[in-house]
Amino acid sequence: MSHAEDHEGTRRDFLYFATAGAGAVTAGAAIWPLVNQMNPSADVQALASIRVDISGISEGTQLTVKWLGKPVFIRYRTAEEIEEARSVDMSELPDSDARNANIGDAPATDQNRALGENSEWLVMMGVCTHLGCVPLGEAGDFNGWFCPCHGSHYDTAGRIRKGPAPENLPVPLAEFVDESTIQLG
Ligand code: FES
Repeated sequence: MSHAEDHEGTRRDFLYFATAGAGAVTAGAAIWPLVNQMNPSADVQALASIRVDISGISEGTQLTVKWLGKPVFIRYRTAEEIEEARSVDMSELPDSDARNANIGDAPATDQNRALGENSEWLVMMGVCTHLGCVPLGEAGDFNGWFCPCHGSHYDTAGRIRKGPAPENLPVPLAEFVDESTIQLG
């Protein structure tokens, strides 16, 4: 598959969510900031959990699953993407918190946001922290995610870098239950 076709696929996925998922995403946007302000671990833990088979996700691609009515991005990052995220100086980050429900308050380093032996997996709520749109993957000025609603750019660790979004894309409770399965919640 050529790069151009690849990109087409990403666009189509986004359009699907923009049309079919608009209602759910908007409702989720209102709820998420509240959950985020309270103790994220305790609140998210009380909700349903799902298991996702990640064996079909190849390096450099991502899967979007719907969980608790919201999209969750599960990305198998390339070495370049990880390297790019790790090379960022913390002082360049508008939001210095990792926003990772698995570890609580912590600096927004790449290691503090990623999963897997080599931090190759990134699991995040696919809900822009500005007003709740679904960001596009492999897009924006930092090669991560781009929210077209008002122009927020996230990097390859899902951290906000430019635009009106105030916070990094939240990392939900997530863990490996075996080598090809990630449990959310
Ligand atoms: S909702 Fe994403 S930039 Fe406004």
